[in-house]
Amino acid sequence: MKKFKLVIVGGGSTYTPGIVKSLLSKKEEFKISELRLYDINAERQNKVGVIVKKVVEMFDPEVKLVLTTDPEEGFKDADFVFAQMRVGLYKMREQDEKIPLKYDVVGQETCGPGGLAYGLRTIYPMVEMIDFCEKYANKNYWIVNYSNPAAIVAKAMYKLRPNARILNICDMPVAIMRNMANILDCDRHDIEADYFGLNHFGWFTKIRVSGEDKTEELKAYVKEYGYIPPDSRSEVRHNDASWLHTFENAKHIMQMFPKYLPNTYMQYYLLGDRIVKEADKNHTRANEVMEGREKKIFDAVDQYNATGQIDLTQFFTGVHGEFIVEVAMSLAFDSRKRHLVMVENNGAIKNLPDDAMVEVPAYITKDGPEPIRVGEIPTFYKGIIEQQEASEKLVVEAAIEGSYEKALMAFTMNKTIPSAFVAKQILDDMIEANKEYWPDLK
Ligand code: NAD
Ligand code: G6P
Ligand code: MN
Repeated sequence: MKKFKLVIVGGGSTYTPGIVKSLLSKKEEFKISELRLYDINAERQNKVGVIVKKVVEMFDPEVKLVLTTDPEEGFKDADFVFAQMRVGLYKMREQDEKIPLKYDVVGQETCGPGGLAYGLRTIYPMVEMIDFCEKYANKNYWIVNYSNPAAIVAKAMYKLRPNARILNICDMPVAIMRNMANILDCDRHDIEADYFGLNHFGWFTKIRVSGEDKTEELKAYVKEYGYIPPDSRSEVRHNDASWLHTFENAKHIMQMFPKYLPNTYMQYYLLGDRIVKEADKNHTRANEVMEGREKKIFDAVDQYNATGQIDLTQFFTGVHGEFIVEVAMSLAFDSRKRHLVMVENNGAIKNLPDDAMVEVPAYITKDGPEPIRVGEIPTFYKGIIEQQEASEKLVVEAAIEGSYEKALMAFTMNKTIPSAFVAKQILDDMIEANKEYWPDLK
């Protein structure tokens, strides 16, 4: 049986133990010989590494685990690269969320101005990572990328490194499908979804369970309860109060626009005023995560170092880890599994531009995704997608050309921002906050 060398970029991520658990749980089918954690922050990665080492001992002690900050050691002959870098860490996520809120604009990790700012930080570190793969990895490497903002990253990589073997994915549609499965009382693997949109900007059009159309039944439920399942079968991930509120908010969108089932992220574009009203401008999701998920992992390491005791199960994050491994296995074994992923449109959605990076179902083969043709989408959906897509395109062009004007256009174009005056104020504050990270904008 072939054994694979796999590197996790952003090894110090809060998600690493969960991904490693899902990966090594598949050892009978997908055998890893070497697992490398690569990060630019050795201290953070070494801490998370303490937990990862325990996970390896628990699930596949034959695996050679390497922690490194050296690109050659990290990427040498790698078959798979799982990318999950957060450029600027949670400290900068906090800025992405709080600066827009100062101006009563949605403050979010990947949507609105926060997403555009995070995009401007992430494009060039991702290019550098691709270049490491080209230089050191196995020539048939595959990067499976979770690094956000995935829509902008996907678009920029396609433009700057069109030949890179990178597949951009998101766990939100599959997490919604997990909740749908709980609502419909089935296994999420028995659900087949039709879907269209951009990353964090899309809709489910049909839900089949073992071939049977369940769309109308599900829509009736979501209209009343959002994506909150009837019992609390959920996993650790997406289970705190703010996530439950997000899942519930889908009901408002469903009531007003009953045609399709929305991605939860549509709340930031369609319910923006209410999202701002409910937000605490001094304590955002970044603070919740720093005080929650991030603190929990570092506290567990301290406790383990002091007592030798650790409860690993609290780091097993369900679909997030499972999904990236399922996608990688379909690439590795050419199994043509159907998953929702980001691809260049090229006619998949007939009335959107060819060069849009869309999120649609695709069969995952050894040569990459083969997207399913969605056909034409109705005017309302086409219109708001085009606006968001143009905003993302402009921010990528701003980064490449170093253009202030294009950045201002990107911010002004975004549906979350009410005027060019507000766009300029937010952009100028963000330039100041991102001095260390953004390309120069002139
Ligand atoms: P985290 O801050 O806990 O971990 C990210 C790690 O990336 C840090 O250890 C950091 O040092 C490292 N890093 C930063 N720049 C790097 C670079 N240039 N090269 C290598 N490593 C680098 O963050 P997290 O909350 O665990 O999230 C990790 C990433 O995954 C984020 O981008 C997040 O938005 C993304 N994410 C995406 C999805 C999705 O659906 N696409 C789901 C969950 C998380
Ligand atoms: C979902 C999205 C990710 C995003 C994450 C944030 O899973 O698909 O793209 O990074 O939520 O979750 P958090 O718990 O950090 O707010
Ligand atoms: Mn996502």
